[in-house]
Amino acid sequence: MSELHGHHILLGVSGGIAAYKSPEIVRRLREAGAEVRVVMTAAARAFVQPLTFQAVSGRPVHHDLLDADAEAAMGHIELARWADHVLIAPASADLMARLAQGLADDLLTTLCLATDAPISLAPAMNRLMWANPATRENRETLLRRGFHLLGPGEGDQACGEVGAGRMWEPEALVAALAAPASRGPLRGRRVLITAGPTREAIDPVRYLSNRSTGRMGFAIAAAAAERGATVTMVAGPCESATPCGVERIDVESAAEMHAVVMARLADTDVFIAAAAVADYRAARQAPAKIKKADGGEGLTLELVPNPDILAEVAGAAEGRPYVVGFAAETERLAEYAEAKRRRKGADMIAANWVGRPGSGFESERNALEVFWDGGHASLADAPKAELASNLMDLIVERAYGQR
Ligand code: PMT
Repeated sequence: MSELHGHHILLGVSGGIAAYKSPEIVRRLREAGAEVRVVMTAAARAFVQPLTFQAVSGRPVHHDLLDADAEAAMGHIELARWADHVLIAPASADLMARLAQGLADDLLTTLCLATDAPISLAPAMNRLMWANPATRENRETLLRRGFHLLGPGEGDQACGEVGAGRMWEPEALVAALAAPASRGPLRGRRVLITAGPTREAIDPVRYLSNRSTGRMGFAIAAAAAERGATVTMVAGPCESATPCGVERIDVESAAEMHAVVMARLADTDVFIAAAAVADYRAARQAPAKIKKADGGEGLTLELVPNPDILAEVAGAAEGRPYVVGFAAETERLAEYAEAKRRRKGADMIAANWVGRPGSGFESERNALEVFWDGGHASLADAPKAELASNLMDLIVERAYGQR
């Protein structure tokens, strides 16, 4: 029987072109045995007719806060109590802003204030709207208040642009609801993962970075979520798609990654540093593009060290999580990795060869030599998803003594 069997799912639909996919979410939820009621915002009704949702859900669709008939029975309270889970898909930038402000200016926002059921948002918007600082702040506020984010994914957008902001497909949304952090050896545990490269600006158009694609870190995030953890990724600039049910915070520089990680530390049980963080940044960012010298002479850049995120987390005085680092080595892998683990104070370090084809950066596959105090395991060459799964089993075993 499906995990969703008998569950009451309240689907909120806000205004966006992705709303055309929302009837399919209803269909799939019902197929999984859930009961579904639909609440639409006024803007959503400009995209899809309530009749469509009524037909697929088998129930009347709700949209008016001040509906005299419904409110005689306190419609918004009744809906808020009925829901075991509220899923808002699509969640537009406007809806997220209104929720972040705690507004109660329509039925959907009002019942979100009135419910104690978990609320998941499936954002859908243009990539620049998603990246806008106002939306970022709203997203942070909502996450701090316990909302869950499902997506967004990356790819082609209805506006013709390409980037982050696509609503997850109905299948992925339903799978995420059906696989809550209620099963698996990491249920109830919060895992924070860094992934991808960092970019250290030199001037407005140039930066220092590296070849990390984020694949290894994203595969680990998926493996942690599959084991029931609540997973947050802090990702440097990379194209990898966010795994189902994983919260993603995009950053650019090591300093930004450091700030986000330190802010989340108190809420973290396991920290995994898979990002290729730049060890140095430019001492000064030139405010304008650095010009090529006429005389053909060279250019010297002064670099200063970045904060060492892994070492700082491992050295945290209070509420220190179980700490897993990575080591990217081009020679003497075991010796350098174990020395790095001790120097940074990590509980475990996963070492991989870099600078050679078929492993490490950019590759689809990898192999890991994993070290902890008094122990070692070799995880054989495999696609990154499989390797990440084997690494997570090892972490669960070492951190919690179970598989
Ligand atoms: O992203 P992919 O293309 O899939 O490639 C995967 C990978 C090769 C990037 C990954 O497997 C990996 O090895 N990640 C760590 C890369 C790295 O920066 O290694 P390092 O040996 O330089 O750093 C050691 C550890 O300290 C790492 O856990 C790193 O995240 C951490 N670190 C480093 C510097 C810094 N300022 N802060 C840190 O937290």
